[in-house]
Parts: sequence; C-alpha cells; structure tokens
Amino acid sequence: MNLEQQVRAEILEKVAQFYALRKDNQRFVPGKSKVHYAGRVYDEKEMQAMVDSVLDFWLTLGEKGKEFMDKFLSLMGMKYGVLVNSGSSANLVAVSALCSANLEHPLKVGDEVITTALTFPTTLNPILQNGLLPVFVDVEEGTYNLDASKLEEAISDKTRTIVLAHTLGNPAQMDVIMDLARRHNLYVVEDTCDALDSRYDGKLCGTFGDLSTYSFYAAHHISMGEGGAVLTNDINLHRQCLSIRDWGRACYCQTGETNPKGACSRRFEHKYEKLPYGYDHKYVYNNIGYNLKPLDIQCAMGIEQLKKLPSFTERRRKNFQALYEALKKYEEYFILPKSLPKAQPSWFALPLTVREQAPFSRREIVTFLEKNQIETRMLFAGNILKHPAYRNIKYRLAGTLEQTENVLQNTFFIGVFPGIDDAKLDYIIHIIDTFMSQR
Ligand SMILES: Cc1ncc(COP(=O)(O)O)c(C=O)c1O
Repeated sequence: MNLEQQVRAEILEKVAQFYALRKDNQRFVPGKSKVHYAGRVYDEKEMQAMVDSVLDFWLTLGEKGKEFMDKFLSLMGMKYGVLVNSGSSANLVAVSALCSANLEHPLKVGDEVITTALTFPTTLNPILQNGLLPVFVDVEEGTYNLDASKLEEAISDKTRTIVLAHTLGNPAQMDVIMDLARRHNLYVVEDTCDALDSRYDGKLCGTFGDLSTYSFYAAHHISMGEGGAVLTNDINLHRQCLSIRDWGRACYCQTGETNPKGACSRRFEHKYEKLPYGYDHKYVYNNIGYNLKPLDIQCAMGIEQLKKLPSFTERRRKNFQALYEALKKYEEYFILPKSLPKAQPSWFALPLTVREQAPFSRREIVTFLEKNQIETRMLFAGNILKHPAYRNIKYRLAGTLEQTENVLQNTFFIGVFPGIDDAKLDYIIHIIDTFMSQR
C-alpha cells in the first residue's frame, strides 16, 4: 500500500466510525421523532462510496456512472440507458426524444398524448414543453392509475403517445395498454419513478413501453440524493435521449472517451449538411438539447443502493401489508388501495381516500397524524388542472375526471419506506386507532 492508499483507507475507516456515531444518535422516540413518509436509507457503505469518489475527484459522469448503468440495465433486463440528474429530467428527455427530427416518425407540435390529470407535475410538463396536446383520461378508484377501459375511446387520429405513471408503485394494466398502443401505433412512456422493482404479470414495470423513466431522489426506491434514468431497447431512441441530455450533440461517445475515432467512429470523418468536412462530431448538434447529467459521486452512492434494492422491496411490501391489515377494519371510512390481479407492487406509499360517509374529513385525519409526528402527503397534484400554473393550458378531456376529482378532494398517503421499522409501524397503527376511537 502506498501512502496515498493508506491515507484513503484511514479516511474511509473514519467515515464508518462517523456513520456509527450518527446511527447511535437516531433512536426512535414515539410521539417525538418524526415518522417520515419516505427518506434515504443508507449505511456506512454509501457514505464511504461517495467519499471515495470525492477523493478520486473525477466529479463529472464517468466510471461510476458506467458501472451503475451496467448494473441497472442488467437488473432491469434492458439494453440501453441514459443517466440524468432527476426523474423530472428523465421525463423531459424521454418525451423530447420522441419529438426528435432524427426519428422516422417524430411527434410534431399539436400531436396528442394521452395521460392523467392525477399526476406529478413533471410527468405532464414535458408534454406541454414540447408543444404536444395532453388528452386527460380519468383514473381508477383505488389503483389511482390510468383507467385502461377508457383508453380506446380517448384515441383520435392525432393521438401518438401514451405517457403513464405507475402511481405510487402500483402497476398499471400494461397488457391492455400495450395491446391498444401497438394496435394504434402509439409510443408508450412508462414513468416508473415510483415503481422500481414493481412487476406486472411477472415482468418489471418500465420494461413494457418504448421508454421508461426512473427517479433516484432521496424519497424513492433507491437514492442517489438526486438522479434519474431513461431506459429503452431501441438504439435510435437511446441515441436521441443521450443527445438531448448532452446539449443536443450528435456524438454518442462516452464522456472522457479519447479514442480519436470515438465510439461513433465519426469524430473527424464526416460531413454534416452545411458544416465543413471533418468538423468534430463532439461539436455537431442534431437536437435542441439540455445538460441534464448527474455527477459520478451520486452514481457511487447508487451502486451501493442497488445492492440493497431486494431488501428494500421486501420491507416496503411488509410495511404495506402490515398497515393494510390494520386499516382493513376501517374500510367503511376509507377506500383502501387496490392493485390488479396481475400486479406485484413495490409500494412507494399507502394511499387512502376518505369516503363521503366518514365522520371525519381528510383535513382532520391528516392534521391529527401530522400533530403526532406522522408525515402525510397529498397524492401529488390531485387534479393538476386545478393548479394555478395550469390555468391556461390547452388540453382535451376524454370523458369526465370524476375519480381524479375525488383524489383531489379526499386522498392522502402515508409512508411504507424501508426506514419504517416495526416500532414505527406499531406507532402509526396506534395513532390511527386513537384517531378512529375518538370519532
Ligand atoms: C411519478 C413521478 N414522476 C416523476 C417524478 C420526479 O422525480 P424527481 O423528483 O427525481 O425529479 C416524481 C417525483 O417524486 C414522481 O413521483
């Protein structure tokens, strides 16, 4: 071991000590400690991996990014992937790639995209940002997913794409949706930001559509702090995603690749339209792009998190089941979450809709839980059309948004993430029982 390696080993050892101290200071005190709805779950391995990467001081996307993506693709059984700095960026890249002039049949301004108004804003925003027209279909009661039975009648001759999310990790009806999409020649983007490791009919969510997007934000199934990815099996779509992430450039060589020919074999060898012969491919732009790259340091954390995914999924399912069983007795007052017979969710959270006949309102139960240190959240935007920013957007409605509106008025969710242990589970159930006993 040379001196540098020795100092590095000492630093990493200190990091492990630091983590142990921090962990000791985080004992759960019922009623005092917050029960978060989500959060990062990590140990010394993530901290060491990130510090190790800082010591390398490569910083920008590089070897760690490549290692993470290789492992992620092999886990997902997909061919190509692009890392980005958030799930929102992943959605932006995916929808923008479908509009790339380098595709045989790109989406054009005014083309229709079917989606839901019960949405996270950045699932919808790229549709608007690319000048496409959202067509809103209602969601199903209890699954909170796009109602596949309403899809066919929503399709017009301008419809080109479906953008759907597997809401809170609950798989949408992908067999019906994909069958319809293929029959009508529609692209499908699966927003899998909340559904990593969820399956439908034995197949992982995110492996059905043309493009799938992921978030590695601290609240999600695995975390890089911030981060995201776009996966596809289509090489041309992948190249457009890469280009749009990387300033719009035509070159698809990896960052830092110094081979004078490059992976694309075109670096100084080609003539592009009006550019001089041999103009460096790295500076040829064939999309109007962004810069949405994450850092290598984040990917170092992601590599460690991927190893923990199976245990995270197991705990999410266990927590969901325990809370679901405890809440069953209140079915008269809550619409409990439902999943389809072929679905195997890895739940992001547990949604509850307060029924009309309940002797309490959503606001009452949510404020009671929060007062007792249990975090709650609304189901994202509820109905995004009711939000100030979307007041003047152009859209088409396919049917009514009755269920979406019910979500806006009456739904909230509580956490099931792996940071919720048995003591916290017991506490959540105790506080809900206390609330109910007072009604
Ligand atoms: C369904 C869905 N899509 C996209 C996003 C955006 O992900 P990010 O926070 O990484 O931008 C979220 C965020 O939580 C989400 O829930």
